[in-house]
Amino acid sequence: MLLLLAGLVLAVSSMMLWVILEKGYSPSWLTWIEIHKWSGFGLFVAAVTHVGLHWKWLLAMSRRVFRRSLD
Ligand code: HEM
Repeated sequence: MLLLLAGLVLAVSSMMLWVILEKGYSPSWLTWIEIHKWSGFGLFVAAVTHVGLHWKWLLAMSRRVFRRSLD
């Protein structure tokens, strides 16, 4: 859920910086840069935690897939 939320906020802030706003030091640019920076960081932390939580599943699945491709 945190992963989805951070991803959505990052996507919106990316579009604000990339498409909507003019680059510069206006208050809105600086605000969106902060939102972008922290949601990017949040997404990174959430993604690493996610992989950590499902590490066993990932290992088991990788073993199965690679064993099959060796046959
Ligand atoms: C995990 C993904 C991402 C991370 C961690 C990230 C991080 C950052 C950081 C740290 C900055 C600089 C902030 C500053 O100047 O203080 C930045 C700027 C920017 N990012 Fe991202 N970003 C990510 C994804 C994206 C995506 C997907 C897009 C667009 C599709 C995007 C568009 C931009 C734009 C337009 C700027 C401003 C660049 C400029 O100053 O000219 N970012 N991003």
